[in-house]
Amino acid sequence: MRGVEQVPWLYDALIRLFPGLARWRSELMRQARGRVLEVGCGTGLGLRELAGQTERVWGIDPAAGSLQRAAGRVPSAGLAVASAEYLPFADDSFDCVVSSLVFCSVGDPERGLAEIRRVLAPGGFLLMFEHVQARSQPFAGLLNTIQPAWTTITGGCHPNRHTECIVEKAGFRIDPDSRRASGLMRMFLAYP
Ligand SMILES: C[S@@+](CC[C@H](N)C(=O)[O-])C[C@H]1O[C@@H](n2cnc3c(N)ncnc32)[C@H](O)[C@@H]1O
Repeated sequence: MRGVEQVPWLYDALIRLFPGLARWRSELMRQARGRVLEVGCGTGLGLRELAGQTERVWGIDPAAGSLQRAAGRVPSAGLAVASAEYLPFADDSFDCVVSSLVFCSVGDPERGLAEIRRVLAPGGFLLMFEHVQARSQPFAGLLNTIQPAWTTITGGCHPNRHTECIVEKAGFRIDPDSRRASGLMRMFLAYP
């Protein structure tokens, strides 16, 4: 069964109901520099912003239907059907890798982060905007309880992931000055 993330028109319609997410995403994209790869670019909402400000952008996503929509939205972007765990690029290819609301859905986040490290050139960095597990115990318990159903409905999203910890365990250093946290939302720049 396809989840919301794999139905491009539905994803675009639902995400419009949360304008706050678009604002966070825009703020993330504004920090991108040089040769930029967006992992999990989906229907191209972030790529559209990247294309206006960086020299060349690439996007990958495992959902071919979403990429088709992204291609219509951002004809100048280089696109490939691929997952974060197997990036079809040579080592040191990018100055910046962007991930917006993706690592909750990546099946093997450790491998995905290792791949991002591999394709980042020396001096390159990772920009992330993600939601994470709640800090308060009752809310965290609730997210644990709904996770299986939520993952099915959304098509992969895990609402109870400790993504910041996973990023640090994968050998990235989160720049404390860049870090923003509000409720479950996190945004930061990280260096390999
Ligand atoms: C919530 S959507 C976010 C789309 C877009 N980045 C945005 O900000 O609107 C999550 C995206 O992650 C993609 N995704 C799921 N598993 C992935 C994986 N292993 N590697 C890369 N992308 C993945 C989904 O296909 C979907 O397009």
